[in-house]
Amino acid sequence: MEIKESLAPLELELKKVSALQGSMAFVVVPFEQADMALRARREMDTAVRYKDHLVIGVFGMGADEASAHFLSIPKGIAVYPGDGTDVQALISEALERFKHSRGSSPWVKSLWESIREKGPSTSEADGEGKFLVSTFYQFYAFLGSHLGELRAVEGVMAPADRRWLEDLLPLGSVSSPGEPQDRVSGDFFTLMDQWPYREMMEAKQELGKKTLRRFRNIENLFTLPSISQEVIALAGDDLVAASRMAKVIEKDPVLTSRLLKVVNSAFYGFRRQIDSVEHAVVILGNDEVVNLAFSIAIHQIMDRIAPRKAQLLWEHSLLVAHLSQWLGPVLGCSGGNMLYTLGLLHDFGKIIFLQRGCGFGDLTQVSSLEGLAAEERETGVSHAEMGAFVAERWNLPETIVDGLQSHHQPSKAADPATAVTVHVADIIAHTGGIDMGAINTAAARYLLEGRMDSISPEIVSRRFEDTRTRVKNLLDA
Ligand SMILES: [Fe+2]
Ligand SMILES: [Fe+2]
Repeated sequence: MEIKESLAPLELELKKVSALQGSMAFVVVPFEQADMALRARREMDTAVRYKDHLVIGVFGMGADEASAHFLSIPKGIAVYPGDGTDVQALISEALERFKHSRGSSPWVKSLWESIREKGPSTSEADGEGKFLVSTFYQFYAFLGSHLGELRAVEGVMAPADRRWLEDLLPLGSVSSPGEPQDRVSGDFFTLMDQWPYREMMEAKQELGKKTLRRFRNIENLFTLPSISQEVIALAGDDLVAASRMAKVIEKDPVLTSRLLKVVNSAFYGFRRQIDSVEHAVVILGNDEVVNLAFSIAIHQIMDRIAPRKAQLLWEHSLLVAHLSQWLGPVLGCSGGNMLYTLGLLHDFGKIIFLQRGCGFGDLTQVSSLEGLAAEERETGVSHAEMGAFVAERWNLPETIVDGLQSHHQPSKAADPATAVTVHVADIIAHTGGIDMGAINTAAARYLLEGRMDSISPEIVSRRFEDTRTRVKNLLDA
């Protein structure tokens, strides 16, 4: 009786609408979300409580429009006259739809879509757009600091939406298998409602645009020494004679002496002295010589940062280069030499920022979501995006640009196997093992799809120790 009476205002409105031959949407939301729904309601809409729900009669809207209007609130919608002609029937229909919609959370997609919409067009002539919209670490860091609230709504999300949110968070931080999750908490929706993601996204992009413009004008940063360019170009040709490769290297005395020094170091462990570049090319092979020449050229670009930091970053880069080259084939990635280059350059964005006086947290630690979000707040772009931006200016292959950009977010990579390889090699280089707490969910999922057998903790730690010793020998040369 009481319920019937409470529906009276809606019945009255429906009568008017039917007399005018108009339409009306009935939006049912859980009562815990009444505050948010009432804020989204227009003045002429009518809202009443019905059992555990709030029902809002919205004039002149179809289901899609009404759904967009109550964007981040879980809801069921029925529309007069298409779905029924009396209030009771329409509300039952909306409730039924609400029940079925509990498995999906359109607000997740709406949020992401609106974040993306705000991004500048990727077809911008200056080509900066794609480095500005690639991710929004501040959003993920925000999620990471509200895992309790996120977990409480996990049960109402469609698997695809949940995956999307989990991708950058550590494995298991949202889904807790076996734990029944069947309640909707208003807290998370309220949190999302209050977090000014649009403004923050806009601020990030404005700042990012300025940063990239500023860096674009630093001439010497964007030109690789021409000898290295020649070496890389020659190496692309598998049939090139060692003597031709050697001639190019020998044009540069610094490159030549450095190369011979390294070739004769303990890293390679040759007993006989190697005294010519041609001999080195024959013994090491083109790929290895190119890696070396490339490393030496890149190292020269680091001379403007504090020696201690440069040393840390350089050692880390070499470690990740060698570990990626080993790990790639194990994880089904056939990148070969490209993996070395990618590993060597993966944190190049950090070098560039350090050269320009931007600060960084602890260089001995894996970049956390909070750390990446802090870079974004300071400069508008993360070191991953900055590195990719420079790599593109150097005309490095698209696989390298993509790998640099997504080494902290493998799920967004064009080639996830490559990005996972560098992501995991990065973590091994920092922690000496595969720390599942540090690897993000997307990468962990990839590893757990039957790829863990060949990378047992013993194998990984032995490989890490071995590679570290070899890299130290290389640095001592
Ligand atoms: Fe990184
Ligand atoms: Fe790194």
